[in-house]
Amino acid sequence: MMFGNLYIWASLLLAAHALAAVASGAVDIAVYWGQNASEGTLRETCGTGLYAYVNLAFLSTFGAGRAPLLDLAGHCDAASGACASLAADVASCQSAGVKVLLSIGGGAVGGYNLSSPSDAQALATYIWDNFLGGTGAGASTPRPLGDAVLDGVDFDIEAPSPHYDDLARSLTSLFTNGDAAGRKRKYVLAAAPQCPFPDASLGTALGTGLFDLVWVQFYNNPPCQYASSGDVTNLRSSWEQWAASLPSATVFLGLPASPDAAGGGFVDADTLVSEVLPVVEGAANFGGVMLWSRSYDKDSGFSVKLQDILQNRSDQGASSNKKKRIYIIVGVAVAGVLLLFVVISSFLCHKKHRGTPAPEEGSTTPPKIAPS
Ligand SMILES: *[C@@H]1O[C@H](CO)[C@@H](O)[C@H](O)[C@H]1NC(C)=O
Ligand SMILES: *[C@@H]1O[C@H](CO)[C@@H](O)[C@H](O)[C@H]1NC(C)=O
Ligand SMILES: *[C@@H]1O[C@H](CO)[C@@H](O)[C@H](O)[C@H]1NC(C)=O
Repeated sequence: MMFGNLYIWASLLLAAHALAAVASGAVDIAVYWGQNASEGTLRETCGTGLYAYVNLAFLSTFGAGRAPLLDLAGHCDAASGACASLAADVASCQSAGVKVLLSIGGGAVGGYNLSSPSDAQALATYIWDNFLGGTGAGASTPRPLGDAVLDGVDFDIEAPSPHYDDLARSLTSLFTNGDAAGRKRKYVLAAAPQCPFPDASLGTALGTGLFDLVWVQFYNNPPCQYASSGDVTNLRSSWEQWAASLPSATVFLGLPASPDAAGGGFVDADTLVSEVLPVVEGAANFGGVMLWSRSYDKDSGFSVKLQDILQNRSDQGASSNKKKRIYIIVGVAVAGVLLLFVVISSFLCHKKHRGTPAPEEGSTTPPKIAPS
């Protein structure tokens, strides 16, 4: 009962958050956090109010007999249990309406893959017990992030390997069954494919239709990214393919948060708003922007500027709407006064005619005077 109420309140809060975002003109931003200690804490990251999703980067070792390992670089040493204190940060993010996901994979290609469907099932159970609602025997003591229950799992798989579709199905079935007490909550599956379509590493997994959020990396890929010459053609045709291929997912435009953050594909915030967002935000499943990464975003101020420009755009929209409303009100008032004037004058005129009818033009007969 209590849980049901919480669920309703959480949904209302999320709806209010979404409405507030729409009202302020902001766009949902997903960001990767965890690979550079100088980016600040997870709590600070969520506290900026800039982000709707934070992907913890990365569970970079797993599969084929490897012991899974969370690597949060200089933030904390998960292997020694030192990241368990992040539970409080996760809770602070979640209470601010920010969803926190575990991102698996990353750039450390060679540190992970899956060898079979049962390997995928074992990894799903490990993730469930250690980061989500599971309380099975597979959990480490302490859990890597203490008692934090994350909001879902992000697949940032950068090396082709089979069985990620099996992993998506195994996770989905754990999500559907709920925890040991049968309690269910909404967990999301996310993925970060590269923009060449279909993605070599994630195409099969995405084909399951089980992913809720897909942030496509429109960087490090000249054939489908924004060209520094200002040409949006390649990005547009790739985006249209991605958006059409994922009707049941929300699709994000993945970008570097500064020119240093990737080998190519950077778009400055002004150009993003004037040239690129108009190309992507028409898709019914457009969800927002994904940024690599919090570290670069903190240094460049990219998302501060982006949200600022969008806020200004929406203020202008609102003030031009306000002007429109004023014009309409004035217009209606003028029309009303005119109408009243016409009605009154025609009434007076009518009365006058009845009182003293004017001679009919061209009439030779004198006007009949009504008998008094
Ligand atoms: C981490 O961020 C700092 C500050 O922006 C930067 O100087 C440093 O090169 C980054 N380290 C890595 C490993 O990216
Ligand atoms: C997975 O990685 C292991 C260890 O590096 C390797 O022996 C195996 O061939 C890889 N399997 C696949 C399917 O890539
Ligand atoms: C937003 O508008 C304010 C007030 O007009 C202005 O000072 C600011 O520079 C604008 N920001 C951007 C990013 O355009």
